[in-house]
Amino acid sequence: MSSHQVQGGHPLRGQLRVPGDKSISHRALLLAALAEGPSEITGLSSGDDVLATRAAIQAMGARIEGEVVHGGRSRLHEPPKVIDVGNSGTGIRLLTGFCAALPWLTVLQGDASIAGRPMERVVGPLREMGATLDGRAAGRFPPLVVRGGGLRGIDLDLTVPSAQVKGAVLLAGLGAEGESVVRERVRTRAHSEEMLADFCADISVSADGLTTTLRPSELRPCNVRVPGDPSQAAFWLVAACIVPGSEVTVEDVYVGPARSAFLHVLQRMGAEIHVHSTGATTATITARYSPGLRGTTIEGAEVPGLIDEVPVLAVAAAVAEGRTEIRDAAELRVKESDRVATTVALLEALGAGAEPRPDGLAVTGGARLQPGSVDSCGDHRIAMAAAVAALVAPGTTLITGWDAVRTSYPRFDDDLQHLTGGPR
Ligand code: S3P
Repeated sequence: MSSHQVQGGHPLRGQLRVPGDKSISHRALLLAALAEGPSEITGLSSGDDVLATRAAIQAMGARIEGEVVHGGRSRLHEPPKVIDVGNSGTGIRLLTGFCAALPWLTVLQGDASIAGRPMERVVGPLREMGATLDGRAAGRFPPLVVRGGGLRGIDLDLTVPSAQVKGAVLLAGLGAEGESVVRERVRTRAHSEEMLADFCADISVSADGLTTTLRPSELRPCNVRVPGDPSQAAFWLVAACIVPGSEVTVEDVYVGPARSAFLHVLQRMGAEIHVHSTGATTATITARYSPGLRGTTIEGAEVPGLIDEVPVLAVAAAVAEGRTEIRDAAELRVKESDRVATTVALLEALGAGAEPRPDGLAVTGGARLQPGSVDSCGDHRIAMAAAVAALVAPGTTLITGWDAVRTSYPRFDDDLQHLTGGPR
């Protein structure tokens, strides 16, 4: 297993771009594969998760030359072998919806973590649409077998707040007979809806953003420019807030619906963060060292909009004064790792206090973080949150399972060196 050392006590200073947004990258590839003709996609995430989705559409006949995807239903065919999504929960769930509408057999599998991720949430609605789906434990876990085609539309009340489920159902709905409606109780990230509209699908979203209606559509090619991933920017912005002497600017970050809640939380905690809008859904964001951060409560409708940022927000909470409560976040239990358990373990390993809860965690606050040893448990966000915590600790922290960062941010350490001014 790979390990990595992070040296604490050095300020982060400078400007950078983070990798292209992972959620947008998956969707851009899948929609480009369905659109008849060439779509140019610039700024794609270079992480393994997105590479796996890229390989999946190639296995189904999409041709990729540089940044151009040549797609179209006439080009697509049954994949000759099992599709391996690696560590990607978004990849397997979106691909399940994508394949449900295509008239052939697809088998989807992933790594050990994927084998334990719940799939009922997509399998249930897709079966209701008429797809023939199976998998381990009666379809509750991968590998999944999808016999696609013959779908009808659905009117779905989304009980689990999940943009992955919404995206899977909308992808299936493109090739179904009749209209599909997805009703959300709380808003989740809107990339599927935004991008389906860009590829000229017949789609409409209610003014409150909670109800999406899609009619079967032929997609038209579209050029996509993928902005920076806010979930990756979060690591540097939190690091800047907690490491004395730091100031970091992240350019071209996506700040659309249900992705920027972590910024509001940090500001509520007293962080000095400036968001300079550069487009309808993009911004340049600067964070400065912010002594005197205060604990907060994160719960309810705010949670889906920052679910991926919880590990690094918990690091900010550990050094803040006072307690932080994170509630209504049971989804953390079924991410790349059980992030309630792994976040608590990471904080404890570096000398902070935290308690697991069934639906979240409580962080004690006021910690003086100390160097230590943290196991990523194969989870990229735990590895990177541990690196951020290590930057405050005076000395060397060892992070085992560092390889996991390849999932979403292969250049994380290069960017860390750039910001701290040398190899650490
Ligand atoms: C994602 C949605 C979120 C998020 C994941 C990416 C997406 O998961 O945690 O990293 O691209 O749709 P859920 O939709 O399951 O909450």
